[in-house]
Amino acid sequence: MSERQPTTGPDLTQGVDADSLDDGGLLAGRVGDEAVLLARRGDEFFAVAAHCSHYHGPLADGVIVGDTIRCPWHHACFDLRSGEAVRAPALAPIACWTTENRGGKVFVIAPAAPKPSARVVSTTATPRRIVIVGGGAAGFAAAELLRRKGYEGELSMLSDDAAAPVDRPNLSKDYLAGNAPEEWVPLRDEQFYTDQHIDLRLNTTVAGIDTQAREVALADGQRLPYDRLLLATGAEPVRLPLPGMDLPHVFTLRTLADCRAIIARAGEARRAVVLGASFIGLEVAAALRARGLEVHVVAPEARPLERVLGPQLGEFVRRLHEEHGVVFHLQDTAAAIEARRVRLTSGGEIDAGLVVAGVGVRPRLALAERAGLSIDRGVAVDARLQTSAPGIYAAGDIARWPDARTGAAIRVEHWVVAQRQGQVAALNMLGAGEKFDAVPFFWSQHYDVPINYVGHAESWDEIAVEGDISARDCLLRYMRGGRVLAVASIYRDRDSLLAEAGMEGRRSDPVYS
Ligand SMILES: Cc1cc2nc3c(=O)[nH]c(=O)nc-3n(C[C@H](O)[C@H](O)[C@H](O)COP(=O)(O)OP(=O)(O)OC[C@H]3O[C@@H](n4cnc5c(N)ncnc54)[C@H](O)[C@@H]3O)c2cc1C
Ligand code: FES
Repeated sequence: MSERQPTTGPDLTQGVDADSLDDGGLLAGRVGDEAVLLARRGDEFFAVAAHCSHYHGPLADGVIVGDTIRCPWHHACFDLRSGEAVRAPALAPIACWTTENRGGKVFVIAPAAPKPSARVVSTTATPRRIVIVGGGAAGFAAAELLRRKGYEGELSMLSDDAAAPVDRPNLSKDYLAGNAPEEWVPLRDEQFYTDQHIDLRLNTTVAGIDTQAREVALADGQRLPYDRLLLATGAEPVRLPLPGMDLPHVFTLRTLADCRAIIARAGEARRAVVLGASFIGLEVAAALRARGLEVHVVAPEARPLERVLGPQLGEFVRRLHEEHGVVFHLQDTAAAIEARRVRLTSGGEIDAGLVVAGVGVRPRLALAERAGLSIDRGVAVDARLQTSAPGIYAAGDIARWPDARTGAAIRVEHWVVAQRQGQVAALNMLGAGEKFDAVPFFWSQHYDVPINYVGHAESWDEIAVEGDISARDCLLRYMRGGRVLAVASIYRDRDSLLAEAGMEGRRSDPVYS
């Protein structure tokens, strides 16, 4: 996250030459004390807040796609006409101003009144009761959008977590590093759920689903009827079958409680061992370095993240962490954890007062399996995110869906995908019949280096590298049979956005067709 920058640029109330902006052009300026962005689309001009409502990303560095502006940092998308956040990760709107073109000069006039979100047009009856199982990325995004779209029926969100929905990606980044205040963590405060009449039940485990009676059974014996149900149970960290995994200084990281426990232990430890060079493992390593701990990473692969990002970026990530003092023990694994040390399979040992295992996650499928839903290494859903049971949708880390671009059934573990699927499932529970056609996107942050990734490539026959990886200015295209499957980039945010729009077919580009 970044702090609010001083407002700079021209005073847009004084007018700007229309010809100074090309079609798709963006100009950062100000209106009084407010940072405002002037955007041109065709012959129309729009004025909106210059910063994204997610983490304050500079929209002037974004891209216009259709009637929307996309944020360069994590690809949120805002309607230029209304300011509405139409695609996650932003969930709150940005302000809009009216504009006038007087004789070839465009003036920003006044704040525009907020517009309510368009209602879902449906031929089916609106459900009376919607139940969401899961209070994470997908579940929260679904609940928020249901209310934003004017859904007035009963809405329950059931979560076996003790905390209301949190900004989970932050738990391995700024919050764990001690750089984010407590108030950044909840996605919304308690009042939001009251105001929106969302029956949020925490510490509530759903034990079963009766698909015939259309009821969910809670672990305490209560039953809750539904007309539509969203399953968004997410994933849980894999626990290694190792001696010592149950010791009190050994942690995994998924929840806010996990994160707080790691922070408390980090205050007492001098050295930490991270098991696994996964995205979460490495982000934890970076965060613990920021807290001044010595950090050792133990992982079986030759290069971190190579399986997802390839050898070039894997090597860069290794060097980046080493420059920050992380010690790698690659092509090695932990054999046992003891009270004060980790014993390695290679025979070595590392003294450590804190151990964090980041060795991957497993989708939480038990409920879906018990309910008899179709399972395919995830909950199988169709393009509209509907499961094999009528009225039941699935979204997020558990869902395996047909990728719009390749047709292959895929399942990913990305924050933005989970949120966007929650949003599409919400629309479809209201009868919209919308396909989930977003191209997968994720980001990861290592110290001051963000890595953005668009698309989905489980394997490739070529990686085309553009730019200079070591200079932190690069774009890598993962190709198979000459087709670009995915793009990873560092500080090439605009190119990453253009790749996303190209892969979605919203922008004609032969590279991504
Ligand atoms: C520390 C961390 C950092 C991450 N950073 C990034 C990142 O930078 N970028 C990125 O793209 N992705 C990141 N991810 C992954 C991302 O957070 C997940 O992909 C996303 O949270 C998945 O959303 P979800 O709704 O499917 O599941 P979750 O967010 O895990 O939510 C699942 C919910 O279901 C509840 N639940 C499960 N079973 C039951 C049950 N039987 N009864 C009641 N409730 C139940 C859980 O309590 C939870 O509330 C990160 C993950 C972690 C843990
Ligand atoms: S700052 Fe805009 S999407 Fe995150």
